Amino acid sequence: PADRLIAPSLLAADFARVGEETKRAVASGADWMHLDVMDGHFVPNISFGPSTIDAVNQTDDVFLDVHLMISRPDVYLDDYIKAGADMITVHVEADHDVNETLDRIHAAGLKAGVVINPATPLSAAEPYFDKIDMLLVMTVVPGFGGQSFMPETMPKVTEAAKIRDQRGLNFHIQVDGGIDAKTAPIAIEAGANVLVAGSSTFRAPDMAAAISQLKAI
Ligand code: DX5
Ligand code: ZN
Repeated sequence: PADRLIAPSLLAADFARVGEETKRAVASGADWMHLDVMDGHFVPNISFGPSTIDAVNQTDDVFLDVHLMISRPDVYLDDYIKAGADMITVHVEADHDVNETLDRIHAAGLKAGVVINPATPLSAAEPYFDKIDMLLVMTVVPGFGGQSFMPETMPKVTEAAKIRDQRGLNFHIQVDGGIDAKTAPIAIEAGANVLVAGSSTFRAPDMAAAISQLKAI
């Protein structure tokens, strides 16, 4: 899909004002809200769970892109479906049957994606290409916002776009971590079309300007 989508990551927002921050992101031109769920096990950090997703869902009618950085996405899947997720992305490195999890997400009427960490080869995600609505190629090691973009992950984006187009598939390619006005052009050039941006949007002096700058690249 050629459409460029900007998904601010709530992880970079002011957690004391989640509702207002969600509204601010939507008013500033966010296409999606990227919601980083962390269990302190799959990644060395804990962020938030289904109740926060539910609160965001009550706040605004915006597409909720839920990134599950948890060891057992299969065990908690129904909670995120109930909380109002529109897209759920799961790590191929986590401890679950990826195909089964993707099928369950689709059975609930949601969009489904797989995520690969920087150290994970594209071959680990390729078996699911026919089934996914999105591939998320992590451009940082997951767990924290504010990290630096890892350009060495770009060949995976380029290769994924090539395979997708060769097979006539149509999944989004999302990048996540250290995306800003400087690094976004590299990711777009490589073939990404959905940009997650936490610090560079929520922490910008002007969030709307930051988002429109990412859209204009
Ligand atoms: C990291 C998360 C990213 C992160 C992005 O584990 O998956 O979504 O919040 O934050 P920035 O854009 O600040 O790197
Ligand atoms: Zn994320």
